[in-house]
Amino acid sequence: MQTKRKQPIKIAVFNQKGGVGKTTTVFNMAGILAKSGAKVLVIDVDSQANASSSLLMENMADYDEKHGTVGGMLDEVMTLKDLIEVPSRINDAIIKAKICIRDGYAAKWRGIDVIPSNSKLQDLRVEDMDDEDSLYTIRDAIGLIRRTRKHAYAYDYILFDLPPHLGELSVAVLAASDHVLVPATVDSYSMNGYGELMDTVDSIRNMGLNPDLDIIGVFFTMIQPLQKYDRSMYQDVREQLGSVFIDTPIRSNSNAKLAAHIGCPLCWLKRSAGVTQDYIAVTEEVLHRCGALKEGEHLPNLSDGAGEDLSERLMK
Ligand SMILES: Nc1ncnc2c1ncn2[C@@H]1O[C@H](COP(=O)(O)OP(=O)(O)OP(=O)(O)O)[C@@H](O)[C@H]1O
Ligand SMILES: [Mg+2]
Repeated sequence: MQTKRKQPIKIAVFNQKGGVGKTTTVFNMAGILAKSGAKVLVIDVDSQANASSSLLMENMADYDEKHGTVGGMLDEVMTLKDLIEVPSRINDAIIKAKICIRDGYAAKWRGIDVIPSNSKLQDLRVEDMDDEDSLYTIRDAIGLIRRTRKHAYAYDYILFDLPPHLGELSVAVLAASDHVLVPATVDSYSMNGYGELMDTVDSIRNMGLNPDLDIIGVFFTMIQPLQKYDRSMYQDVREQLGSVFIDTPIRSNSNAKLAAHIGCPLCWLKRSAGVTQDYIAVTEEVLHRCGALKEGEHLPNLSDGAGEDLSERLMK
């Protein structure tokens, strides 16, 4: 008897405001999910290609060594732009990310695949996506992964790293996603952007493009716990947003930068660091909210040294 494959949970990490921690969130959530045994596909939707460069650092180094280039791999890869043109090529666009978790250890695949990006994504013209059908291309292309991928496994999660603006491509990603996860920084501009984001999600639902799309959570990143200003803004926003707010702020910590810089997600690089524990807590909360984890259940393979709870400190 054939068992029905479960669908991956598709999460778009989005905020129109730049520099709020979208890519850092995708990079570290992908690590946490993979370390806990899940198969994760990261789709880089940003022409800055930051998620691609961090997750594929080792693959890029291998490519450079083989071809005598410097950062040459990303110029050659297929991106979402190619998939808009020929969705069936999605299987050729997937790269298995090799990650090195410790000096002296071989880089190897740890459960994260990537559909990378490069600057050519910027050349995507509005005309390429001007009819309604094209807004479904990403959704449809993802459907083709399950049907045609040879060494078949279904992904448990697909994470989209969106750019800091809303173009047709971002709309197509939202049309393909189950949930929107919103990192934000504690400043009023970032929260004004949240109103716009809610309007966008509402229109996507109301137009029938994706009636079930929801905002799974909003959380703060790069929090400096000792700043008074941050504290009162944090509490205001917490009250305003109610249940959509994820009450686990991600602290500002240089390890977050370091992890991206050396291409190793925090859960492998600094497992017990506070910022790692913050990201684990946010990931688990997201999974609780979307039903992937039961109440009180934790992700396996991650417990190590409880980081102090930053939200408690902020409420003091
Ligand atoms: N918790 C953190 N602590 C310290 N630095 C952080 C943290 N999170 C992110 N950063 C740094 O802040 C900068 C912006 O983060 P990131 O690139 O993730 O934001 P983004 O929203 O993806 O930006 P963009 O809108 O340009 O795509 C990066 O240099 C990143 O290393
Ligand atoms: Mg980014």
